Amino acid sequence: MNALRLLLVACLSVALACVSERTGPSLNPGVGNCQVPLAVIDSGHVVVAINNFTFVQDTIVVPQGATVTWINCEPDETEPHTTTSDTAGVWGSPDLTTGARFSHTFGAAGEFPYHCEPHPFMMGKVVVQ
Ligand code: CO
Repeated sequence: MNALRLLLVACLSVALACVSERTGPSLNPGVGNCQVPLAVIDSGHVVVAINNFTFVQDTIVVPQGATVTWINCEPDETEPHTTTSDTAGVWGSPDLTTGARFSHTFGAAGEFPYHCEPHPFMMGKVVVQ
């Protein structure tokens, strides 16, 4: 139980490390084989994986000024996804194919819900504190 709690805390506070560890099938099979580029790891971005038509994690809490990077971790040949702010003009990625990524920096505090343009049932939220 303690180990599980530690892992959860690690995932919440260092989303990036969590995603990068998901290359191992036993750690978190729900996220698939997502390869996080070293450049992204080094940049300190908060990473949201896109896998199985879901944003993982679907709600993240980040400090003001944080940059969030979404990475499409779907298997090859899966339909592309987007990350698109529910509020027009705040941010909107192009179609992201497998392995593609998109970043946005959140300067102001607030709650920023978003979705995937081709799949409106895919929803997430960035909470900036
Ligand atoms: Co989608």
